[in-house]
Order: sequence, then structure tokens, then C-alpha cells
Amino acid sequence: MTSPINCLSILVIPLLVTSIFYQASVGQPGIKIDDSSLTYLCKNSTDPTYCFKTLKADPDTFAGIGDKFHLGIVSIAIVNRTVSATAAQIPRILEKLSDRVDKIRMMDCKDDYNVVLDTVGLAYVSSDSRDYYGAMFMMQDAASRLGECKNSYTAPPVRASPIADGIAEAFKKFNIVDAVFGYMLL
Ligand SMILES: *[C@@H]1O[C@H](CO)[C@@H](O)[C@H](O)[C@H]1NC(C)=O
Ligand SMILES: *[C@@H]1O[C@H](CO)[C@@H](O)[C@H](O)[C@H]1NC(C)=O
Repeated sequence: MTSPINCLSILVIPLLVTSIFYQASVGQPGIKIDDSSLTYLCKNSTDPTYCFKTLKADPDTFAGIGDKFHLGIVSIAIVNRTVSATAAQIPRILEKLSDRVDKIRMMDCKDDYNVVLDTVGLAYVSSDSRDYYGAMFMMQDAASRLGECKNSYTAPPVRASPIADGIAEAFKKFNIVDAVFGYMLL
């Protein structure tokens, strides 16, 4: 007759084995990030100096586990700060606009930003729960949604976007996310 202990081990051993393999294959805490790993991963970004400076200046980069997988949520939070700051300016900008085209574009951008913020939040949760590919694809979706806001101003009638600087900064930070995830998923 099978003892309860044996029954338990039949259940527990496969779980343990699965969990050990899972940890080894995805996101096992690895070596600490240092300056040379930042330099290495930033090589693939469009502005390596900016990428290095931004990550180096963020206190979260070296905090906690501080390994390369931790950089996923750090880089997503960097994007989040920039897009949140711009999104917070939009209501005041909208109040000042009187031209119909300008108003419609900024209202559409407000929608785009809401989607971007939601998507970035979901990407953060995904990366935090080790779904790195999911997080990376969500950040690409978020960047492409931000591109719709940006591109609306270059379609006729061409106008200057009141949030052009915020958008440009967000794209530079999305590019850091690309470099970080490229490195994490090597
Ligand atoms: C994004 O920024 C907003 C505003 O600062 C904050 O409330 C939110 O918690 C941040 N989310 C992430 C995922 O960092
Ligand atoms: C940089 O990009 C190249 C080409 O896509 C790739 O082979 C390499 O692994 C990348 N390096 C890093 C650090 O992401």
C-alpha cells in the first residue's frame, strides 16, 4: 500500500524539478550589473552614451538583486516616468488650444497616452513576473502607439506638436528598453 508520504513525494518531486529547471532557464538571479555590463548592453542602442548615463544614474539599476533581469523593470519604470510626466501636461495644453485640428490631435494623443500608460504598466508586471518576451512585446506596442501620436502632427495639415520634446525623450527611453531586453534575452 502506498503511504501518504509516498503520495506526497509523487506530487512534490516533479514540482520541485520543474521549478528548478524553470529557475535555471528563465531569470535565475545572475551576476550583478556593473559599469562594463552597462557599456556592453548600451552598445546596441542608438545613443550608447545616453543609454549608459541614464541607467547609471538610476539608483534602482544597482539596487536589490541588481542582476540583468532586474534591469527589465528598471528600464520600463524609466519609460513610465517620462510618459507619465507628458501625459500629466496634456489636460492643461488642451485647455489652451482653440484651433480645431490642434484640439483633435491632442485629444487623440491623450487617448494614445492612456493606452501607452496602461501597456507600460502591464509590461512592468510581466517583466516582474519573468515574462520577459511578453514585456518586450508590450513595450514595442506601447512605442508604436506613441508613434501614432507623433505621426499625426506630420500628416497634412502639418503642425508642431506641443509635446514634441516629451515624445522625443520617450523614444530615447524606449530605445534603452530595447537594448536592455536584447541583452537580457541573449
Ligand atoms: C508609472 O508612473 C505613475 C506616475 O508617477 C505611477 O503612479 C505608477 O505607479 C508608475 N508605474 C510603474 C509601472 O512604474
Ligand atoms: C547586439 O545586436 C547584435 C545584432 O542584432 C546581436 O548579435 C548582439 O547579441 C547584440 N548584443 C547585445 C549586447 O545585445
